[in-house]
Amino acid sequence: MAKTKTTFFCQNCGTQHAQWAGKCNVCNEWNTIVEEVIQKEEKRAWKQSSPSKKVAKPLKINDIAINEEDRIDTQNNELNRVLGGGLVKGSMTLLGGEPGIGKSTLILQVALTINKKVLYVSGEESQSQIKMRAERLKNTNTECLILTETKTQNIFKSIEETQPDVVVIDSIQTLQTDAIEASPGSISQIRETTAELIKFAKETATPVILIGHITKEGTIAGPKILEHMVDVVLQFEGDRNHTYRILRAQKNRFGSTAELGIYEMQGSGLREVENPSEILISEKDESLSGTAIGATLEGMRPLMIEVQALVSTAVYGTPQRSTTGYNTKRLNMILAVLEKRAGFRLGAKDVFLNIAGGISVDDPAIDLAVVASILSSNEDEAIPQDYCFAAEVGLAGEIRPVNRVEQRILEAEKLGFQKIMVSKYNKIPSKKYNIKIVLVSKIEDVYQQLF
Ligand code: TYD
Ligand code: MG
Repeated sequence: MAKTKTTFFCQNCGTQHAQWAGKCNVCNEWNTIVEEVIQKEEKRAWKQSSPSKKVAKPLKINDIAINEEDRIDTQNNELNRVLGGGLVKGSMTLLGGEPGIGKSTLILQVALTINKKVLYVSGEESQSQIKMRAERLKNTNTECLILTETKTQNIFKSIEETQPDVVVIDSIQTLQTDAIEASPGSISQIRETTAELIKFAKETATPVILIGHITKEGTIAGPKILEHMVDVVLQFEGDRNHTYRILRAQKNRFGSTAELGIYEMQGSGLREVENPSEILISEKDESLSGTAIGATLEGMRPLMIEVQALVSTAVYGTPQRSTTGYNTKRLNMILAVLEKRAGFRLGAKDVFLNIAGGISVDDPAIDLAVVASILSSNEDEAIPQDYCFAAEVGLAGEIRPVNRVEQRILEAEKLGFQKIMVSKYNKIPSKKYNIKIVLVSKIEDVYQQLF
């Protein structure tokens, strides 16, 4: 009888341990070490490769011929943009995101619009469930094949029979290979099945899209090595109570990671949002106090984002500070700066801050809009709706320049804003703008300009 071999893996960081322990001494997590059976049998599922005798030779860099990566147009502009121009042949793409965020919907939609033969393998839903979803999405690619299977051996058998151009796996955590005996979703299964799929993808130049679950910390479940193995790591995120979803590339061997795609979840699937600025600003007839619009950049794309603040007298001894979509520590810093440098007495006030649309912003250029919305709520005086802001606020109360200011100004101009407030220290290319540029250098200036 074959001897079974077992090892212990930390389910959090993927470290291999010689014996069980209560705590992983690498990542310091408790109760994460699990025994997994690994059988060192050489029976990998994808074995079409002809053992080549060729040994690679080093070449002079000038002698290497470049062949443009062969890309498949996914017919989904936002996805193409994030991928860097389409799906590269033979590439492995991993899409992660919280449960219910719309990963399966996005990929099924792509499978139904792409003009290629797609094999969609699901280990999570039945064929009729997927069919029901596809009915709602309304697109029909008659060449889209649906398979419910979790064993890689059987998946590769179907692949050989059907010869698809693109393979989708939903999700990597459900896959299982016969080569090892650990349960699906365990570190060794994920590593092994991914390795088999990579071998298949590289040998046949077929792009593979993997869907992956994420852990409660927000990283992709499974060993970190999974992210190293694949070519592209995409993250699908958004607030489940809102309809907007953002697709980002965390790693991309074939393009920039600064691009991002924006979608809106509708009854009939995900709609691509081409002009994101318009949707993030709420429609209203009159100006309300406590709102200000920031000209931010998400990756390479300019986004006009509405910041809402509510400043009210504190009911309890300790004032409350609460934010959604903005860093609470940063809000506290801005309040301290307002108090110290400009003499606003906010210490006895509750301050609530909200970024409209359920998205979260990291761009420091939103700071000035945060300051403006707080001042506006505190004064109970509205800021004109055609006014926007783009600057960072420093600890000394100085208004600091931001990167790519021209792009922000042009976006604001395009959307019909009349005024934009930026730092005096920003180098703005001198040319004729239709928008009025207001320059400020200190936090006191902001107050004077606005009220
Ligand atoms: P799903 O793609 O199943 O999420 P994931 O694969 O990331 O777990 O998304 C499910 C959610 O999307 C579900 O809450 C319902 C919603 N949805 C719509 O609003 N409209 C649609 O057309 C579809 C297919 C799903
Ligand atoms: Mg799913």
